[in-house]
Amino acid sequence: MKILVLPGDGIGPEVVDEAVKVLDFIFQKKKIKVEFDFELIGGVSIDKYGVPIRDEVVEKAKNSDAILLGAVGGPKWDPLPIDKRPEAGLLKIRKALELWANIRPIKIFPELSYISPLKNSDGIDFVVLRELTSDVYFGQPRGIFGDYALNTMIYRKEEVERIAYLAFEMARKRKKLVTSVDKANVLEVSSFWRKIVSEVAQKYPDVKLEHAYVDAMTYYIILNPQKFDVVLCPNLFGDIISDEAGGIIGSLGLCPSASLGSLNLGDGRIQGLYEPIHGSAPDIAGKSIANPIATLLSASMLCEYSLGMKEEGNLIEKAIRNVLSEGFRTQDLLEKKSQDEKKKSQKGKRGKTKIKVVSTKEFGDAVVKSLKKLLI
Ligand code: IPM
Ligand code: MN
Repeated sequence: MKILVLPGDGIGPEVVDEAVKVLDFIFQKKKIKVEFDFELIGGVSIDKYGVPIRDEVVEKAKNSDAILLGAVGGPKWDPLPIDKRPEAGLLKIRKALELWANIRPIKIFPELSYISPLKNSDGIDFVVLRELTSDVYFGQPRGIFGDYALNTMIYRKEEVERIAYLAFEMARKRKKLVTSVDKANVLEVSSFWRKIVSEVAQKYPDVKLEHAYVDAMTYYIILNPQKFDVVLCPNLFGDIISDEAGGIIGSLGLCPSASLGSLNLGDGRIQGLYEPIHGSAPDIAGKSIANPIATLLSASMLCEYSLGMKEEGNLIEKAIRNVLSEGFRTQDLLEKKSQDEKKKSQKGKRGKTKIKVVSTKEFGDAVVKSLKKLLI
């Protein structure tokens, strides 16, 4: 099996290093032969080769079982025109491999519930299922033409159908609710999306379908996040909703993603690209303080979907939780307390786990150490 690693820009290389370390440990322990290949994507590729991704890297990706990606972009490349920016490299690979299904699980870690800005974040557990290779992201025509500019929001029937089927299949194995997001009160594309999703729903009488306008959805997600199960979104709305969803659990740094296509690798394995949802965070890059959890969880999804190693994938998640229970935290995951609260917690300190602030690398090492005990 082959994994193409694309660390990218900003904190990408730091968090990806930890995921590779963890995966490598599992493969060695399980005596499974997996080849890692490293390539450039994003700004670093622009700097070296003048393009955000080279065709040969796209070819390598096509010939890999899985791609593990860090992040792309940064202020240095902001002045570039849209089609030459770091982001264009990521969009190109998504499209070239036709990775149409973007799965973004949103789950609260009880160990970290204090970082959620919500009063009640208990039990938040839903999946944003985002269509990834169509919509206004790829619609033609597009461009800036003198005194006007234009993008095309478009969905074809088969594109809506395949993601809708997946949404219902996923919901069937979960809480049996699909919430489809659109703007059908204004946009034709959305009303078409709604019609097709409703048709697919007929084949799943055991799963409940609800429709929500995207503006209302941003509101419900804050008011009652516990009710959601599978949140089915077109590409653009899914991009927005998933960042908001990361916000309610307290950090995008906890949110992994898997982008799957239709390439069946045999034995139930599917080709996919795995990346944290957070961006390149240029402000903290190079300091080894970034939180690697989203990337580690992406590696866990990689094991499950592309390598047929669901059990091992679950162990990564378990190891992360153990490490958190032991008190390890990267800086961004510390509890922010007011002076009053600090005084209070000083009093009740006894019996509480001591918090250890660690670097990106130390967090990864702790996860490996925990996996040593879990893997037999
Ligand atoms: C994401 C990102 C990308 C997107 C960017 C980097 C192109 O925001 O994966 O959510 O818009 O899809
Ligand atoms: Mn995004």
